[in-house]
Amino acid sequence: MTTPPRPIRKAVFPVAGLGTRFLPATKAVPKEMLTVVDRPVIQHVVDEARAAGIEHFIFVTGRNKGVIEDHFDSQFELERTLAERNKHAELAALMKDLPQAGQASFTRQQAPLGLGHAVWCARDIVGDEPFAVLLPDMLHHAATPCLADMIASYNQHGGNHIAVAPVPDDQTHMYGIVGVEDRAAKASRITSMVEKPPKGSAPSNLHVTGRYILQPQIFDLLGTQDKGAGGEIQLTDSMIKLAATPGQAFWADRFDGKIYDCGSKIGFLTANVAYALERPDLGPAFAAEIKALLQ
Ligand code: G1P
Repeated sequence: MTTPPRPIRKAVFPVAGLGTRFLPATKAVPKEMLTVVDRPVIQHVVDEARAAGIEHFIFVTGRNKGVIEDHFDSQFELERTLAERNKHAELAALMKDLPQAGQASFTRQQAPLGLGHAVWCARDIVGDEPFAVLLPDMLHHAATPCLADMIASYNQHGGNHIAVAPVPDDQTHMYGIVGVEDRAAKASRITSMVEKPPKGSAPSNLHVTGRYILQPQIFDLLGTQDKGAGGEIQLTDSMIKLAATPGQAFWADRFDGKIYDCGSKIGFLTANVAYALERPDLGPAFAAEIKALLQ
């Protein structure tokens, strides 16, 4: 590319979902606030965005999600108490996670009309620049965070990017699926996309893992509010239309790390075990407990 593409400064986090699969845990607590070890799921995903250089965090929330806003705000009494008790390490850790003034925005999706509609709700805050979307259910674990890898690929190729990874053939109907030009390449042009294809009809086994870099023209397409799979306004449908527009290439960036789908109980529980085992302060003792349990 001759001129470098415009930087990715903003990320959208759709966090309006009801979390019905985790009831009763999610009756009063948003599913994004459930913890993987001692960090809420949403904090892990914000960490990934921050590590990729994102400067503005945009949360599309809904009713009963106010505690997410509190989590990303300062807690004056708590901070003062920690300081008074000389708990400097704990205080420093809290302050490190805190977005700076003006770096976090919150907007509400008033009705559960689908992922495409949730992203569209962020249009005025994103404005006319390319941006990232991170689905908080999906924890991406790798030495280089997924979004950082994608931004490197975007800086090289420009356009729109979707993180993909293989899934077993009997699971393709659960995800967005893409067909690519070069299956072996780390980054490949996308040739087709389909949201939750019926069993046996998927163009490949590469699923959309929930990390996107999109050009702002997506908002005009989402604005038509056309409904797709499941009667919802699907992000994938507008991406298909955008990909058909001249000058709007779509790239699949293959993610080689581990993905934990924290929207499912098994994924969530596995993430907790995996992240705890990796922690130097918890791993050895926790491994011993697990071994004892399994005997
Ligand atoms: C959404 C997307 C889908 C993607 C998935 C990843 O589906 O529409 O393309 O593969 O997230 O988790 P949902 O899980 O919201 O049904």
